[in-house]
Amino acid sequence: MTSIDEHYGHFSHLDTILDTIQQAYPEGPSPFQLAPIDQLHIGGIKASDKLLKRIDKASRILEIGSGLGGLSRLYYHNQHKEALYVCLDITHPLNRLNSAINHLTAPHSSSILTADGQSLPFDYDSFDYVVMQHSLLNIPDKKKALQEISRVLSPNGQLILHEVLKGDDYASMRFPVPWASQPDHSHLIEEEALLSLLKEQGFTIGSIEDWTQEALLWRTRQTEKANKVQKPALTPALVLGPDFSVMGSNVQKNLADNAIRIVEVIATPR
Ligand SMILES: C[S@@+](CC[C@H](N)C(=O)[O-])C[C@H]1O[C@@H](n2cnc3c(N)ncnc32)[C@H](O)[C@@H]1O
Repeated sequence: MTSIDEHYGHFSHLDTILDTIQQAYPEGPSPFQLAPIDQLHIGGIKASDKLLKRIDKASRILEIGSGLGGLSRLYYHNQHKEALYVCLDITHPLNRLNSAINHLTAPHSSSILTADGQSLPFDYDSFDYVVMQHSLLNIPDKKKALQEISRVLSPNGQLILHEVLKGDDYASMRFPVPWASQPDHSHLIEEEALLSLLKEQGFTIGSIEDWTQEALLWRTRQTEKANKVQKPALTPALVLGPDFSVMGSNVQKNLADNAIRIVEVIATPR
């Protein structure tokens, strides 16, 4: 078992999670009802909606580190039925769960693949978009991952990143966080380092947006919701385990202390 499997694969008990979803939403859950468990990034479904507005219809999309597939289901829910959407994730139990959740929701045509984002099993020019939402943060060899992305993207394609970066006060970083129970699972870098890596691999930077302030507001609202007496049916703890409340509060502190930043970066290859 790799350290990533240990972190993400440990609590993903497929039957328990499916039973919980079916009991709470017997008619089939909507993307909004699933969001607490399948939008495992800072900013939740609103951030995903914003990200998806960058993608044209009828595209070939590869998502690296797709987790439980919330972004793909939202994409199809937003009427982009004709797209080819490949969910790729290194953690097999999450992929199994993604596939099982698909069977509970409106049918769509995403494919789900267990593979490493540092070695993509696709040919040159296979995709119009590569999307990474809080997954580059787990990847140690970012140079290799970006080389692979550049190879599989079409020359007019786009890489869209929604990622966590080191903030100016990274020394105050607290663990555990949702992507890393301990520091050696986390591979955050600074914005400057990310932009240099992208340029070294031949990418041109189209835009960079800082989403930190809205991420902090979102995280603060999640803490308020979690403290209410009536608990929601689905919570991230179902997937990430009982430490999730500490992870969530650490994310809030890390954002407030400027230990981490949230950015969206759009880049084109070659
Ligand atoms: C924080 S989760 C985010 C999941 C999903 N993008 C979301 O926002 O809900 C990070 C995901 O990246 C995946 N991941 C980590 N390292 C990876 C790698 N080398 N290749 C592919 N996926 C990876 C993990 O298994 C996990 O599902």
